[in-house]
Amino acid sequence: GLPFSVTVYEVGPRDGLQAEQGILDAATKAALIGRLGAAGLTVIEATAFVSPKWIPQLADAAEVFARLDPAAGIRYPVLVPNLRGLERAVAAGAREIAVFASATETFARNNLNRGARDVLAQLAPVLAEAGRTGVAVRGYVSMCFGDPWEGEVPFARVVETVTWLLDHGCGRVSLGDTIGTGTPGHVRGLIDALGAAGVEPSSLAGHFHDTYGQALANVHAALQAGVAEFDSSVGGLGGCPYAASATGNLATEDLVWMLHGLGYDTGVDLTALVRTSTWISDRLRRPNASRAATALSRR
Ligand code: HMG
Ligand code: MG
Repeated sequence: GLPFSVTVYEVGPRDGLQAEQGILDAATKAALIGRLGAAGLTVIEATAFVSPKWIPQLADAAEVFARLDPAAGIRYPVLVPNLRGLERAVAAGAREIAVFASATETFARNNLNRGARDVLAQLAPVLAEAGRTGVAVRGYVSMCFGDPWEGEVPFARVVETVTWLLDHGCGRVSLGDTIGTGTPGHVRGLIDALGAAGVEPSSLAGHFHDTYGQALANVHAALQAGVAEFDSSVGGLGGCPYAASATGNLATEDLVWMLHGLGYDTGVDLTALVRTSTWISDRLRRPNASRAATALSRR
């Protein structure tokens, strides 16, 4: 059966904005996060404390975090690549971080400037320090379902990376379909392979980019396999600057529409979310990639 409840993990302010051409000011980013919270989202990945040379779009992470008006009951994790990022995040007031690894060598080098196992070696002290100081950590594994340079990604590489992250203190690991080539059978196969290695679906989340229009189908396959947390971005913002063929994440509005249809109470006010989605798309001068938002704003 399907999980009893589902968490929507909003990544628009981070995964979305990191890849947009237009750079917003910190006040607009903080306003976006505020509006997402007011629309009922309870986990909002707010920004990334990565190298500003690599991601100039999020160079103002500390200022965005300082401008946040945190609301009770909402979590604001931030993305961190190394110890420097953890220090900056904690200094800015973050209580929760997300770290990211890659199932493939090429993406590890393009995204983090080192091989896949060296990425984990760089994360080990981050996870240890977070554990010592009570900072909660989520993990991401990129390229779980296909890599633009390497093609098919063996399940074993994903299993190895996910298990390493869970063993080193990540509370949950999100399976990244960075370029959106995954399909439901593949999702099921990977979750089964992880299960065979002792990884419970409750330790997993799904992070599906919608490049090939498969994201919602992949969510449904993962739901049926027992996964109960999904990443999405308002208006389908974003892509990945180091994977040219990637587009935005699954749009939050589309995910919420499906979850409500399945009878889940997400707590999200879809009307308020669509208003926010229209507003941020206008600010970025981009078309809204959410089908549900487009349909609902024509009603
Ligand atoms: P590097 O060049 O190997 O690192 O980059 P370095 O240690 O040699 O540092 C280079 C410079 O950056 C130095 O400055 C450091 O101080 C500085 P300089 O001395 O030249 O003036 N630096 C930092 N500054 C601020 N904050 C930091 C930081 N770290 C170093 N934390 C590094 C290595 C990891 C830093 C770099 O590769 C990096 O920042 N990569 C991040 C790339 C990124 O953010 N990609 C997008 C997010 S991942 C994603 O989108 C996938 C996901 O959504 C899941 C999916 O879809 O699959 C999560
Ligand atoms: Mg992503």
